[in-house]
Amino acid sequence: MHLVQSLLMKILKTPNEMTLDQIENTIKAFKDAARRAKQAQFDLVEIHAAHGYLINQFLSPLTNKRTDEFGGSIENRYRLLQQVIDAVQSEFDGPIFVRISASEYHEDGNQMDEFLHISSQMKKQHVDLIDCSSGGVVPARIRTYPGYQVRFAEKIKQQAKIPTGAVGKITSGIQAEEILQNDRADLIFVARVFLRNPYWPKQVADELGIELSGPVQYNRGWR
Ligand SMILES: Cc1cc2nc3c(=O)[nH]c(=O)nc-3n(C[C@H](O)[C@H](O)[C@H](O)COP(=O)(O)O)c2cc1C
Repeated sequence: MHLVQSLLMKILKTPNEMTLDQIENTIKAFKDAARRAKQAQFDLVEIHAAHGYLINQFLSPLTNKRTDEFGGSIENRYRLLQQVIDAVQSEFDGPIFVRISASEYHEDGNQMDEFLHISSQMKKQHVDLIDCSSGGVVPARIRTYPGYQVRFAEKIKQQAKIPTGAVGKITSGIQAEEILQNDRADLIFVARVFLRNPYWPKQVADELGIELSGPVQYNRGWR
């Protein structure tokens, strides 16, 4: 690779520190989005503070190198999310969830103590549920197995005493039921299993002996 090309790559890849004006505009953009969500009659709003997106970049010491009130201590790194939550709440009066990456898979990243701290702050701000995912701030080899992120939801629920959602390789009704009935989380999120089987809710209902009413056209097949 030419020197100029590699220099260009470096310049393009290194993000610029946001100005305070840009931060203010971003918070306003969240506020505007919340207003549109309300107008469009969405039932709930989830703020994405996970997976290495902007809010996550502020939360993590691996990416946040600021020296002003938005960087440094966990209180400062939380400030953007805190203000985004306030802004969203000022427009949207339904349930508000926040998705976090509750492990950064890096020894210098946020650890559970920090996640418990920000979870307690979110509880104080009346966030309704923390959706506990993980990773995405920095490249990491993540070992996945059934329910591999449930322990984050469980710990935050038990210690910060705020409702949590569990996500990640939850693929059966019995697995989901075990998590819920043992108070390890309050809500189950599923993603990939729906790509494999759009009738997953029906399969789970059958597995757990629950009668699920489907569209009328399906009655003769479902009963
Ligand atoms: C095709 C695809 C797209 C996804 N897009 C998003 C996304 O936009 N935002 C997000 O938070 N997670 C996204 N995810 C992650 C899922 O929400 C979920 O956290 C992850 O797949 C683990 O749950 P699962 O094992 O049930 O799939 C996506 C996953 C897949 C497979």
